[in-house]
Amino acid sequence: TSTILAYDKGPKILCPAMNVHMYENAVTQRNLNTCRELGWTIVEPESGMLACGDAGKGRMEEPARIETAVEALLLANRPDGELPLKGLAVLVTAGPTQEPLDPVRFLTNHSTGKMGYALAEQARDLGAQVTLVSGPVALDAPYGVDVVDVTTARDMFDAVTNRFSDTDITVMAAAVGDFRPVEQARDKIKKNGRSSIELELTSNPDILAWAGEHKRPDQTLCGFAMETRDLETNAAKKLASKHCDMLAANNLRTPGAGFATDTNVVTVLTPGETADKPNIERWSKMGKDALAKRILVKLAAMRADGERH
Ligand code: CTP
Repeated sequence: TSTILAYDKGPKILCPAMNVHMYENAVTQRNLNTCRELGWTIVEPESGMLACGDAGKGRMEEPARIETAVEALLLANRPDGELPLKGLAVLVTAGPTQEPLDPVRFLTNHSTGKMGYALAEQARDLGAQVTLVSGPVALDAPYGVDVVDVTTARDMFDAVTNRFSDTDITVMAAAVGDFRPVEQARDKIKKNGRSSIELELTSNPDILAWAGEHKRPDQTLCGFAMETRDLETNAAKKLASKHCDMLAANNLRTPGAGFATDTNVVTVLTPGETADKPNIERWSKMGKDALAKRILVKLAAMRADGERH
């Protein structure tokens, strides 16, 4: 730890890990505050079982989250002109879609839009010109982002396809309804003494698949996948069939993942040497903001890598 005192060329990050009593000791806390005041970034330890057998705050933070903190710090310390998405147009889809059944009812899902909104905000902070095509959500429109409000999957399809050729990076985080009622009743559907009714549904356009078919080599496409089982097998199929450059897959049943949470746990797939062998990275649980930034930084890095080859 004394070696770092000789380093003065860049930002410093400290990831303390120790016994809970050592960590909570006033001397440690005062010294951490001194470091904070001097501008060091402190990645706080996690709570849980410690190597010594005690339980409490003191476990080293997950390496993936330390990496995110390092990336964020490096980005924050870059001059404006070096922001990784500077000059790029980013299109994000977010939220659920609603498919009307009659004037008072609709089919929808549990999406809150948090992941997509986090992506739009982070893309803006990384220097991009951002368009957010959003289904109905309860979130405020992010500052400095062009928001296009839509309701149905077909509206979302139109909003995306009209803008797609002008975008460099597209990230589809919306939970698009796969089916809609064949008929939308003009008037409220009445019970009329019936004990059951049948609804006929027809499929909606797959927006991500359309984008995968129409994308130019200079465009980068990232999709999401929501699964309840066989995550990696199903996600690998989606990555290949929808021609994505990246797919972030999450399992609804994993604690800390899924709808309405502030965190997410994703497995990130990118095309490998053959379609049945994608590259797979299993990222640990992190806040949706941190995850959004990490996805975008990875997409920017993939583009930069592509340009070098
Ligand atoms: N998606 C889309 N348009 C649709 C359906 C899905 O753009 N009509 C996009 C989602 O935004 C997401 C990805 O496709 O980026 C995968 O969505 P998901 O619901 O996990 O899978 P589906 O393709 O709908 O397949 P299935 O429901 O069979 O799992």
